[in-house]
Amino acid sequence: MSQTSPASKNITSVSQETRVFEPNGEFSTAAHISSLTQYRRLYNESIRDPEKFWAKQAEQELIWFKPWKKVLQWKVPDAKWFVGGKLNVSHNCLDRHLSTPLANKAAIIWEGEPASPGKPGEERVLTFKQLHREVCLFANVLKRNGARKGDRVLIYLPMVPEAAVAMLACARIGAVHSVVFGGFSAQSVADRIADCGAKLVITADGGFRRGATIQLKKNVDDALVLKDASGKRLAESIERVIVLRRASNDIHIEEGRDVWWHRELEYVDANCPAAHMDSEDPLFILYTSGSTGKPKGIFHTTAGFLLGAKLTSRLVFDLKPDDLYWCTADVGWVTGHSYVVYGPLANGATSLMYEGAPNFPEPDRFWRIVEKYGVTILYTAPTAIRAFMKWGVEWPKKHNLTSLRLLGTVGEPINPEAWMWYHEVIGGGRCPIVDTWWQTETGVIMITPLPGATPTKPGSATLPFFGVVPEVVDDQGKPVPTNSGGKLVIRKPWPSMLRGVWGDPQRFREVYWSEIKGSYFTGDGCRRDKDGYFWIVGRIDDVLNVAGHRIGTAEIESALVSNPNVAEAAVVGRPDELKGQALVAFVTLKTGVKAHPQLREELRQHVAKEIGPVAKPDDIRFAESLPKTRSGKIMRRLLKQIAAGDEIKGDTTTLEDFGVLARLTQGEE
Ligand code: WT7
Repeated sequence: MSQTSPASKNITSVSQETRVFEPNGEFSTAAHISSLTQYRRLYNESIRDPEKFWAKQAEQELIWFKPWKKVLQWKVPDAKWFVGGKLNVSHNCLDRHLSTPLANKAAIIWEGEPASPGKPGEERVLTFKQLHREVCLFANVLKRNGARKGDRVLIYLPMVPEAAVAMLACARIGAVHSVVFGGFSAQSVADRIADCGAKLVITADGGFRRGATIQLKKNVDDALVLKDASGKRLAESIERVIVLRRASNDIHIEEGRDVWWHRELEYVDANCPAAHMDSEDPLFILYTSGSTGKPKGIFHTTAGFLLGAKLTSRLVFDLKPDDLYWCTADVGWVTGHSYVVYGPLANGATSLMYEGAPNFPEPDRFWRIVEKYGVTILYTAPTAIRAFMKWGVEWPKKHNLTSLRLLGTVGEPINPEAWMWYHEVIGGGRCPIVDTWWQTETGVIMITPLPGATPTKPGSATLPFFGVVPEVVDDQGKPVPTNSGGKLVIRKPWPSMLRGVWGDPQRFREVYWSEIKGSYFTGDGCRRDKDGYFWIVGRIDDVLNVAGHRIGTAEIESALVSNPNVAEAAVVGRPDELKGQALVAFVTLKTGVKAHPQLREELRQHVAKEIGPVAKPDDIRFAESLPKTRSGKIMRRLLKQIAAGDEIKGDTTTLEDFGVLARLTQGEE
């Protein structure tokens, strides 16, 4: 019965990991931050007088229309950075480069999904000048269609350059974008529109994924008619839908509501001055899962976010003028915001964007792209690395990867085995690895090596970035001893921190600022070793990290119980070799409903429809009833052990029904 899962093996090996990789000398010499001493000196400065440090950075890094009056105004949990300053994010990403030698440099190199093996995908290159023009044109399209400063605009697009154009165009006119990942359902789109009161949707007819067409416009059509329990239309705030032609699939165009992107361009010119935005004007909202059924609209503001994105991009990825930088994240996630679009472009770097999957048409897709363009910096997720390991070294070995000089990971803890494989097979043993810890809420990278300075240890995100004060604490907020586990908190405000949960200040306080008084609570468990290195263990709330995507168990549970057959559901994570965690749902059916295999598939499809394919449970186990404490709380700890196939450990005497436990462990349905 007892079995050790691969991931729990990793956890053990993480705590026993002793290897240290010193920065590569040649790399260090040329790096922006080139020694640990230099890092420590700057870090100490940034902590001793944060306002002085950030004021200097803001002055050096950003172009301001009007200088700020006060660096920080802070009253837990509300921060205002660079108070009174005026600037524009799209101006800082585009216009500022046009009078420099970067004007005709590639801003975005885009590779489309390939049609078949051996065939390259479509290619597009947009220079800073071209991107600027596209953004200005589309910003005028937005205005023409009623978008004004402060309006919310929902973006639901595939990974095409127009996704970046749409984001930057919103920023240009001061509209607040909320990008929804193309893998989310019509219901999710409708819920997000209802929550933020969006006025416009920008979508495409369809997108390509592994040779299939994703019906984005159809999903939007469906979303726009969905109603809430009281019969009110969820998306009633929507006045316009702008549709990009991408997949040329048949779609419905609703007269008076829907317009084609390319047609609208005929009515506008490329003259669109950048709006003077306040430092604290919202830039974007991004929905992310929490421990309740409803995703939270995390919002970020203008100056602080941009400063963080720009500075971390340059220092963590050691960006140089001739780099070709590739972050594989979709713009639907925060990584795509900070490290595909805003951070690299603000630095005048070339950002590569890829539309498709890592293994379509073949498992060497990434390596083909690295070789074809001479990618120098690659930033991806541990789950992808583990998939590549499984597909075999023959795929990367087919390609010349010597252009690579730096590798990065993000999204979940990386197991030392995957770290070593990445280092040796992809990095040829010469590329530093930056394991970057951060969250949608933090906006930008918080704990990370600086590649020319920080000795790395496989599995550790190492040390805090400038101005970041993380600590590992117990339930009372007291620092725990070296090597003991605790909660990861951030003690001091930082410029790119979230400014709140859209429309719900109380939830903002409760979720992030109530757990440990006066500190920001990350929701992650962590340990700090004798060198002060941080080892993130993973979420300690009811949030799972599946293939680098954050998914709330409560969200899936509420989707499951919305199916007429289901009485009750509990969702837990099980360690998974590829995805880090897999989703296991324990489901109690309504009286009279019989458990059968088709129902299992039906429920999985139901969750895909309610939330999106990303949230589909990997495993559904029917149970007569769920194990509960006397107060009626579902015993998740127990379900986790059952899901992982572990022996039941710990005290179970609080169980309401011992029979339930026995039946579950015997695998009865
Ligand atoms: C959660 C945030 C940050 C962009 C992608 C995910 C986990 C993230 C690491 C890392 C260990 C990590 C944490 C965090 N996480 N990076 N390098 N090592 N864990 O953003 O969806 O907001 O998820 O991802 O659990 O809380 P997100």
